[in-house]
Amino acid sequence: MSSNIDSVLIEDRLFPPTEEFAAKARIKQADFDALHKRADEDYTGFWADQARDMLDWHKPFSEVLDDSRAPHFKWFADGQLNVSYNCLDRHLADRADKTAIIFEGEQGDVRKISYQQLTDEVSQFANALKAQGIESGDRVIIYMPMTPEAVIAMQACARIGAIHSVVFGGFSAESLRDRINDAAAKMVITADGGHRGGKIVELKAASDKALDHGCPSIESVIVYQRTKHDIPMQDGRDIWWHDAIKGQSTQCDPVWVDAEHPLFLLYTSGSTGKPKGIQHSSAGYLLGAIVTNKWVFDLQDDDVFWCTADVGWITGHTYVAYGPLAAGGTAVIYEGAPTVPDAGRFWKICEDHKVSIFYTAPTAIRALMKLGDDLPNQYDLSSIRLLGTVGEPINPEAWIWYHKTIGKERCPIVDTWWQTETGANMIAPIPGVVATKPGSCTIPLPGIAADVVDEDGNSITEANKGGYLVITKPFPSMLRTVWGDEQRYVDTYWPKFGGKYYLAGDSARKDKDGYFWIMGRIDDVLNVSGHRLGTMEVESALVAHERVAEAAVVGYPHDVKGEAIFAYVVLKGKRPEGGVDEALTQELRNWVGEQIGPIAKPDQIRYSDNLPKTRSGKIMRRLLRNIARGEEITSDTSTLENEDILLQLQGKA
Ligand code: WTA
Repeated sequence: MSSNIDSVLIEDRLFPPTEEFAAKARIKQADFDALHKRADEDYTGFWADQARDMLDWHKPFSEVLDDSRAPHFKWFADGQLNVSYNCLDRHLADRADKTAIIFEGEQGDVRKISYQQLTDEVSQFANALKAQGIESGDRVIIYMPMTPEAVIAMQACARIGAIHSVVFGGFSAESLRDRINDAAAKMVITADGGHRGGKIVELKAASDKALDHGCPSIESVIVYQRTKHDIPMQDGRDIWWHDAIKGQSTQCDPVWVDAEHPLFLLYTSGSTGKPKGIQHSSAGYLLGAIVTNKWVFDLQDDDVFWCTADVGWITGHTYVAYGPLAAGGTAVIYEGAPTVPDAGRFWKICEDHKVSIFYTAPTAIRALMKLGDDLPNQYDLSSIRLLGTVGEPINPEAWIWYHKTIGKERCPIVDTWWQTETGANMIAPIPGVVATKPGSCTIPLPGIAADVVDEDGNSITEANKGGYLVITKPFPSMLRTVWGDEQRYVDTYWPKFGGKYYLAGDSARKDKDGYFWIMGRIDDVLNVSGHRLGTMEVESALVAHERVAEAAVVGYPHDVKGEAIFAYVVLKGKRPEGGVDEALTQELRNWVGEQIGPIAKPDQIRYSDNLPKTRSGKIMRRLLRNIARGEEITSDTSTLENEDILLQLQGKA
């Protein structure tokens, strides 16, 4: 357990919603009770009600849950709909002129896009995709800056039944290539670049590099012109976005797809070196997105919702690109870094656009907290009425700062536990009803059956005893499979408890009030600044360097990133004097940055003659973790080949 977790153990402050908030909330106590009662009495009936109520169906469904091939579940399988229709067209009757997206570029340019304009632009781009030969079921990679065009590209794919896979713009050419090839994608949609941190992110250059290394499935590349700096275009393969839409109609009939038709793939790290393509459905995913936007974020007609996540992550899918639009809301998109021109940028955007719901990650909160209260105090944050956090457990200190300095002690904080795989919030407070506790994601949402169980799958009833976090019943927004690897889906998520429960990969405990406290990952997955990285991924990147023979990577607590990466490296040649070689360390850090992306760069690298291994050759990760964290060594070190290694690993020789 990290010190982070220890400190939350003593946390028992309770923050009920203010009366004012509760009175205006979408879900009031009586609604909340009714939802839970219905879900408890008739679980599938509950979800069927929600699906009928919240989604527009082209062909209504008659089946709700098909569990005949568990754990391959199907929801609403004989129904048909279109996700983009549900996010756009259905709002045109009563909110055609309402702002769907408020965009602000890093350099300060602002664009407001109404539902009518967005529908037109999505339709036009969908026609452009068709003109380039994209059909229903084809995979399209989106590697874009945070501009409305990223959302337009996603929605356009959904409109014609194409399956998108967004690759975060911070991932390297190598990571992009792996994802293109795993998905066997036909097209890449990218940009000449994006503005971030005062610089241009060279997306097209990275995309060219990925394709140069061999991506045989790619037929064309659409390039959105954002920065207007010079980039090479390859004849016959690359086409500018503005040329692709030229002459295309702004009418495009949505393609009606089956409820289970894959909407998108999103790659995420697991315990092995290869990221997995998490496959989401159309109807079930959208249902999770819309209900949680309404229940957890209390998204109402006059709200302005700013979720700061990039669309390259699941949070940006569900709380930027799909959920707010499905609910008919207004979403803010900001292109750049939080520190440009200074670290007051987030608060300035909140003031300028009258943001009422603000959702970000603990790592951002901690980074901004460190800079003090002066910056946020310079801005009028009175429009904000609800705050949210996601990605990792939030430490109570950061929670209280967020509550006081940003929320002025008026705004509920929704700490939302969920995953790429779950598609939508799972354990989170419904803000007008559930009192919050700093550091706890509170209780499962109605219709979500979460529990903490022991090694044998028995529910742990003792308060505060840690165990495996599991979901005991299938739910509509869950992943359907790992793209192209059914076995990996079964092995990763259903390996224990006779395949009965979905294994989240997190450990957790429940307190005396039944509140959930997430304690961390149980697998070899790191959570750096709220982003998942497999230790194996980073290790594979390190050993791909010509000078590295072996590498082992562990996480250690970091006061801004939550967790940082510590790499133990064995070189092919001689170990550097004293285990330190600054130049090589820089080189390896950059190398990992190129292989995966800057977020994967190890914070510390230590060189030793060998790695600590058991007799069977397994790396003693616990020992490495203890050392990285400056803890007492709890493993049996008697099997180590020589004592020197221990001293080397500790940086003492
Ligand atoms: C962690 C992000 C504590 C957890 C939506 C989970 C959290 C992983 C929280 C998923 C939270 C996410 N409290 N831990 N509120 N939210 N996590 O797939 O370990 O990028 O399994 O999805 O982040 O990360 P992912």
